[in-house]
Amino acid sequence: MALPITAAGFSWTHTDRDQPAVGPLDLQIVAGEKVLLLGASGAGKSTFLHAVAGVLPEESGEATGELLVGGEKPDPRRGSTGLVLQDPDSQVIFSRVGDDVAFGMENLGLPAEVIEAQVPESLHALGLDLAPEHPSAALSGGQKQRLALAGIHAMAPEVIVLDEPTANIDPASATEVRDAVLTVQAETQATMLVVEHRVELWTEHVDRVIVLGGDGIVAQGLPEQIFTDPDLTETLIGCGIWIPQDSPTPRRGGAAGIGGTSGRLGEVLLRTDRLSVARPRMATPAATGLDLSLSAGQALGIIGANGAGKSTTALTLAGLLPEFSGQVLAEAALREGAKRPRPFAWPSKQLAARIGMVFQEPAHQFLTSSVAAELELGPRLAGWSAAESQARVDELLAGLGLTGLAQAHPQSLSGGEKRRLSVAAMLAPRPRVLIVDEPTFGQDALTWAGLVEMFLDALDHGSAVVAVSHDLAFLEAIGADLLELGYRGHEERSDGNKSDSHVRAGERGE
Ligand SMILES: Nc1ncnc2c1ncn2[C@@H]1O[C@H](COP(=O)(O)OP(=O)(O)OP(=O)(O)O)[C@@H](O)[C@H]1O
Ligand SMILES: [Mg+2]
Repeated sequence: MALPITAAGFSWTHTDRDQPAVGPLDLQIVAGEKVLLLGASGAGKSTFLHAVAGVLPEESGEATGELLVGGEKPDPRRGSTGLVLQDPDSQVIFSRVGDDVAFGMENLGLPAEVIEAQVPESLHALGLDLAPEHPSAALSGGQKQRLALAGIHAMAPEVIVLDEPTANIDPASATEVRDAVLTVQAETQATMLVVEHRVELWTEHVDRVIVLGGDGIVAQGLPEQIFTDPDLTETLIGCGIWIPQDSPTPRRGGAAGIGGTSGRLGEVLLRTDRLSVARPRMATPAATGLDLSLSAGQALGIIGANGAGKSTTALTLAGLLPEFSGQVLAEAALREGAKRPRPFAWPSKQLAARIGMVFQEPAHQFLTSSVAAELELGPRLAGWSAAESQARVDELLAGLGLTGLAQAHPQSLSGGEKRRLSVAAMLAPRPRVLIVDEPTFGQDALTWAGLVEMFLDALDHGSAVVAVSHDLAFLEAIGADLLELGYRGHEERSDGNKSDSHVRAGERGE
């Protein structure tokens, strides 16, 4: 079964904003239609999905016009709409997979025996042949997304809305998650609305593409029409849409800056000596045998599947987790007055001045109540003058398309806006070493290019960058060397190197 979605002059304005987050929209989606919803970061995609799912809190804003799902106002209690979000971890609530699948059905008040019979069936339908007792925490990111989909499958929804369901998934598992979404849609025949910045994954599998702009729908049509119509190209680029095979990829210039080509790097800032890393209280390391050296002007990309230990390695390099064994050592150029060589041993003020870290989850990091204050904090603590700080804040706001949001509360930003703010706040005081976990997720093509420019600028100023990322185009654009974790090819290697990681030289300076 499936329900149609209709919007007539529908808009939603948050209480603390002048402009509508979405709309006004006039839109008709027929029952069972599959729609890919595109638009710049901040265009209102998530807001619209939440409105369709009926989960926009009434007191948080004001609606105009009308939005109907199956001819009625959206109401989550009817259980007709299944919602999937971008962060795999936020989808998993219980410690056993069976409880997660059962949760939605329990909320609908289905009888226990129905639930019990349905749980294994839905797990199986999503390719998760696991016992209901299987621990949820042991799942990879892709499996967690499939678990969320199993819960939706079990509820037999009439509408499925998905907000960047593959954004935090490694590229190989993204296809797997996409196919799982299509399985649920095929079995339920539900109306489907998916938001994703990376369009290639979906273009062949949807009936229609709808592009949202600042005030309503900018373009809509069959995917092949939208992406091949020469009259639309300009509009789509202006909205930051990633047009398949035609995306802006600014690259690192060879001539300017310290690290333009290999051999022209600055002094070594940080190195590791037979480093193994582990989460607190874990008995076995997540990654071992890391002998790395990081120079001024150098970018290092850490890649590998979900669960390979990438974030743990980043946190350890940043001096925020102790080494499991071996050492992280700061060289004199980075120490500059810090007595001890290990960043983990530095007091937090010394650490903050030398190594900037952006966590995978942006919202964990905000400390102030406005975007401008958040950007100004680092430079102020580092002793910059008011004029210097202001100039830096203005530069970052403009470079990342956040100027209009300078006074907004960080927690009120869209997903992509939060990510840009967390990265910019770390870049603001120009620390020598920058360690970032998935810096580009949730970005449209224009904001992505803005982030690339900012990292290139930091490298040209003699900073070193370590980036955990699934976004290989980003790593290429900043000329990163690659460290692949969880690489199991060492058995076949003849060089006697026992490391289970794998370093490849990046392409530098074109
Ligand atoms: N809780 C909130 N309070 C106030 N403003 C908000 C809130 N949530 C979002 N906004 C604003 O509404 C606008 C649309 O946000 P929304 O999250 O719908 O965008 P989006 O298209 O999903 O963006 P992204 O691609 O970055 O996720 C943005 O300007 C955002 O700053
Ligand atoms: Mg969003």
